[in-house]
Amino acid sequence: MRTRTRWIWALVGLAVFASSCVSNAQQDALNPQGPYAQKSYDLLVPVFWVATAVFVVVQGLLIFFVVRYRRRKDRPAQLPPQIHGNNRLEIAWTILPALILAGVAVPTVTTIFDLAREPEGNVLEVSVMGHQWWWEFDYPAEGINTANELHIPTGRPVYLTLCAVGLGYEDKPTPSECQPGPPDGDTPAAVGDGVIHSFWVPELAGTQDVVPGQANTLVIQADEPGRYSGQCKEFCGLAHAYMKFAVIAHSPTDYEAWLRDQQADAVMPQPGSLAATGMDVFLNGQCIACHAVQGLEDPSGNPVVANGGPDLTHFASRECFAGCWLQNADAEELARWLDDPAAVKQGSWMPDYGLTPDEISALVAYLQSLT
Ligand code: CUA
Repeated sequence: MRTRTRWIWALVGLAVFASSCVSNAQQDALNPQGPYAQKSYDLLVPVFWVATAVFVVVQGLLIFFVVRYRRRKDRPAQLPPQIHGNNRLEIAWTILPALILAGVAVPTVTTIFDLAREPEGNVLEVSVMGHQWWWEFDYPAEGINTANELHIPTGRPVYLTLCAVGLGYEDKPTPSECQPGPPDGDTPAAVGDGVIHSFWVPELAGTQDVVPGQANTLVIQADEPGRYSGQCKEFCGLAHAYMKFAVIAHSPTDYEAWLRDQQADAVMPQPGSLAATGMDVFLNGQCIACHAVQGLEDPSGNPVVANGGPDLTHFASRECFAGCWLQNADAEELARWLDDPAAVKQGSWMPDYGLTPDEISALVAYLQSLT
């Protein structure tokens, strides 16, 4: 029985180890796809080999001495001569590790400063806001706002300012540099608790913590167009595991086209269509308490602005929603989500509003029309 348990554990261990070898891993820090990820990688590789050499030498000597001087039947059991201190040895094994660490420290500190420097030239600036449990991306100069998908042009440094947003003490929104608030000075509305997150898109950069009350920065850049997946890397509550996101890199021309699409107001559904019914449900129900759709007015004639939930103006242009946990194109997933969000993504702050099946299918049609 014990042997069998050992075999099972050995197999589980082997399977976990082998899973690190897949060639198509989506979040692979060993597959840098931009200059900033490359810098981290260029530090990791030499440090890894230095550490490996130290490991092999130290463990090798340890094993050698354990085997060579083990107790044997043909050898009298006695203590070896007891000596105290050997100045040369003591000095050597103090100086050698100090030199190795100093050698590793030079490229490490250089890389840290290098990565922390604000890029110059043609830089795209984006504010990244960690919510419970989704990512908001705000492009202040471009006047657009997206959720869970960060679109960037290739070959251009993207300077991210990262803030944790949400409610703090006394249920007041935690102030953040990323949400300066409307001109009237009111603090922005928030949903969920303001807690620590960590932004990580392994193929484009190292991780950066997202901390309430403090703005951190990170530079990313992609060489080639593509979809790079990322996730929140710091436990931030119930749905932490579902707090994913994607960075989508476009060629500069495609990026400009995407930008123009995003800057446009939401498309209006055909009068009389199911999507038009959905828009009525959207405007007259609870949706507009949190979500924005640019270009829409609520029943009292005010613009529909975001109040702590994702901006849905171009919902259908995104591939994923709910912290990139669900697929936009999947009408069934969208319907399941609208029916009872917390049943799909545990902990979700979006309430179950008791929508009827008819209202849900109309809302799905409306959301999927928001290209
Ligand atoms: Cu956000 Cu974990």
